[in-house]
Amino acid sequence: MEPVSYTFTESEIAEIQRHLSKYPDKRSAVMPALWIAQEKFGWLSEEAIKLVADTIDIPYAHVYGVASFYTMYFKEKVPEHLIEVCTCFTCGEMGGKEMLDYVKEKIGADARGFGKDGKIWARAAECLGACDTAPVCQITNRRYVHQLTKAKVDELIAKLEKGEEIPYERIPLTDQSIIDD
Ligand code: FES
Repeated sequence: MEPVSYTFTESEIAEIQRHLSKYPDKRSAVMPALWIAQEKFGWLSEEAIKLVADTIDIPYAHVYGVASFYTMYFKEKVPEHLIEVCTCFTCGEMGGKEMLDYVKEKIGADARGFGKDGKIWARAAECLGACDTAPVCQITNRRYVHQLTKAKVDELIAKLEKGEEIPYERIPLTDQSIIDD
C-alpha cells in the first residue's frame, strides 16, 4: 500500500483560509479544518491532526482536544461507511436497539462494530434530533434514514455495498393544524 502523504492541496488550504477569515479567533476554524482532513484521509491519525495544527498554526494539543471530544471525528482507521443507529430516548422505545443489532448481524460486525467485508461499520448514536421519525440512523455523518425497518436496513446495506448514493427521504411534517388551533 502507498504511504500516505500528509499534505493539503492548494485548494484545501484555500478552503481552510476561507474558514479562518470568518472568525476573529483561529481556533474557530479547527472543526472545519478537521473535517477537510477527515474527508481527505478517511480518519484523523496523529499526522493528520498535526497537519491541521500546523496549517492553522495552533498547538497540536488544542486540535487533538477538539478531535477527541467529538464522535463524528474518527480517531482510528475505520471502514468507509458508518451506519449510526440512534438508540436514545424515543428511538430506543421505537426499536432503535433492535435495528442496531440487526445492522450488526447483517454486516457480521466484530466487537468494534466493523463489518466482515471491511466496507461498513455500525455503532449506536445519541439523539440525532429527528425523534418524530424514530427509529433513525445517520450514514457516515451525512444522510439520515428515518422510520427504520428491517426491510429498510436491507436496502440501505445493499446500496452501500454497491457504492450507491443513499437517497434523500421526504418525511411527513408534523400536522401543523394541531399547533394552529
Ligand atoms: S431519540 Fe432518536 S433521534 Fe431523538
